[in-house]
This record gives sequence, structure tokens and C-alpha cells, in this order.
Amino acid sequence: MRSAGRDPYVIATRSLSGDAEHGGLLFRINCAGCHGIAGQGLVGPSLKGLESRLNDPQIIQQVVSGQTPPMPRFEIEPQDMADLLAHLKSFTAPE
Ligand code: HEC
Repeated sequence: MRSAGRDPYVIATRSLSGDAEHGGLLFRINCAGCHGIAGQGLVGPSLKGLESRLNDPQIIQQVVSGQTPPMPRFEIEPQDMADLLAHLKSFTAPE
């Protein structure tokens, strides 16, 4: 986690601009089953106000690392990760 900001995948992802609309599609397919369609939380925790808890490298690591089962490890292209990140940031309101 400490060196996440220097990880090549994280750097590649952060150099791309994310398409939140496509990210929303990816979220509904891959994540909503556990986190809820609006990120409100189900099996997995609520993702509202995520940005106040985790920075970008930490969010990216969470998705691709598989370090917190039962959340799986996702193998996605940096562009898709950038899109997903943009969508996650639309869940702004803390609950
Ligand atoms: C099988 C259920 C499951 C799926 C599918 C899943 N998650 Fe999770 N997610 C979890 C659980 C459980 C946690 C809590 C892990 C822990 O910290 O113990 C979590 C934690 C997280 C966190 C950290 C939340 C925080 O406040 O620390 C983020 C961000 C996240 N998930 C994003 C995603 C995204 C994006 C996807 C889709 C690509 C996804 N998750 C798919 C179950 C899931």
C-alpha cells in the first residue's frame, strides 16, 4: 500500500482521463452485486464518500490487489480502471 503511488499500473491509470459513464457500466456488471447499484453497500461496504477515506492509489489497489476477501481481484485495463475510478467518485455524499 505505501508504494502504491509508484506502481506502474497505478501511474498508467492516473495518466488517463476516466469516462464515468463507461465506469458506471463496469460498476453495474462487476461491483453492484456486492456494493449496491448506487454504492450504498450490501455484502460489501458503502462506497459513499470514498474519497475522504482513500486516495486514488489506494482505491486502485483495492480493486486490483485482492487483498481483502471476499472481494475478488479484478484484472482490468488501466483505461477501464480510470473509468471505474471516475464513476466511484460520483458517489460523493458520505452516509
Ligand atoms: C464479492 C463481493 C464484492 C465484489 C464483487 C466487489 N467488492 Fe469491493 N468490497 C467487498 C468487501 C467485503 C469489502 C470490504 C473489504 C475489507 O476491507 O475487509 C470491499 C471493499 C471495497 C472498497 C474499499 C471501501 C473502503 O471504504 O475501504 C472499495 C473501494 C471497493 N470494494 C470497490 C469495489 C469495486 C470498484 C468493485 C468492482 C470492480 C468491487 N469492489 C467488487 C466486496 C466486494
